[in-house]
Amino acid sequence: MTIAFAAPLLGEEEFAASDAVLRSGWIASGPNVLALENELSAYFAGRPTRVLTSETAALEVALQMLGIGAGDEVLIGAQTFFSSGNMVEKVGARAVFVDVDLKSRNIDMLDAARRVTAKTKVIIPTHYAGLACDMDALYAFAAEHKLRVIEDAALAVGSSWQGRSIGSFGDIALFSFHPNKNMTTIEGGALVCNEVLDAKRVEVLRFHGISRLPDQTRDVDFPGGKFNMTDVSAAIGRAQLKKLDGFCAHRRSLAMHYLQRLPAFLADQLLPPAGHAGDEAGHSWNMFAIRLPLDQLSQSRAEIMDAMKARGVATSVSYEAPHLTSVFRKQGWNVGDLPNTELIANSTLTLPLHAGLQLEDIDFVCDSLQLVLNNAKR
Ligand SMILES: Cc1ncc(COP(=O)(O)O)c(C=O)c1O
Repeated sequence: MTIAFAAPLLGEEEFAASDAVLRSGWIASGPNVLALENELSAYFAGRPTRVLTSETAALEVALQMLGIGAGDEVLIGAQTFFSSGNMVEKVGARAVFVDVDLKSRNIDMLDAARRVTAKTKVIIPTHYAGLACDMDALYAFAAEHKLRVIEDAALAVGSSWQGRSIGSFGDIALFSFHPNKNMTTIEGGALVCNEVLDAKRVEVLRFHGISRLPDQTRDVDFPGGKFNMTDVSAAIGRAQLKKLDGFCAHRRSLAMHYLQRLPAFLADQLLPPAGHAGDEAGHSWNMFAIRLPLDQLSQSRAEIMDAMKARGVATSVSYEAPHLTSVFRKQGWNVGDLPNTELIANSTLTLPLHAGLQLEDIDFVCDSLQLVLNNAKR
């Protein structure tokens, strides 16, 4: 038995949809991109929605749309993937990483308050593992400091906060449709915003910065990238979107099974991100990431990962501390700057969780983990 850490769940609907596009003669951006944008928009309470080739592309375009660049600072919740720090750096602004809450792993608003300055223009919180940030606290803080919010909702496709879908309210929300996410377009992402004019600007920025002139020629007013999604990807996304809520419900039942199986041999601190009152039901469980009690073990995390792999269970680390990558160490970030983020980064282990798994698979992972940890006990 081999259990993948993450995997897309594609079926006949996706195969037929991509086959139809490939045979249609229109395979780059076309009617399926438009249809996916409309269907996503309906999912996000009618807010303007545009799709791109990845969430990383959407991050770059969102920062460009807001005019962020040299001299600006951007707060980033530090339990996140490398993409947000990278894109802030790429547009020439300064990434200011913010520590996270140890339990939810979401941005710590008290630490954000310590790091905000007159130069801060944007805050990028991540809804870690699919658990929504405290949206009341986040948006109150943004209003107080006049910041734009770019929600990194890569892991929160299908999540909600107090009954409202992530992406259906707020400022800018970005989603990833990478194969590890709750729905996939192979590679892909979406940007959701409030103003149609902003969405129109995204269309320009995602395609070379080109706009059409009345005489049917083209102008470029910004050196944009090329981030348009193909119709093949969009057609797959349309089929996946129909299944999204079912995928999330299944992920949730798998996560609940993990929670029943794990406490028997893992102490409280090791449990995966859990939240603030009121939003637990909206957790879409993109990932199930525990923390290992490394001080009680004679083996390193890498050795434990190898031992799990030898038993047929793939695991991963989500995430390393972004402020300690070479890019940001060169800017003066150091060990000790973000204690909770570093503690999590050093001890976290992401266990398999995806819509293609069954309860027996979770049992197998838990039994394997129990054996591996027993062997590793000091
Ligand atoms: C939290 C987070 N943000 C952003 C991204 C980037 O998404 P993409 O791969 O679509 O560029 C990822 C990808 O894993 C992610 O985990």
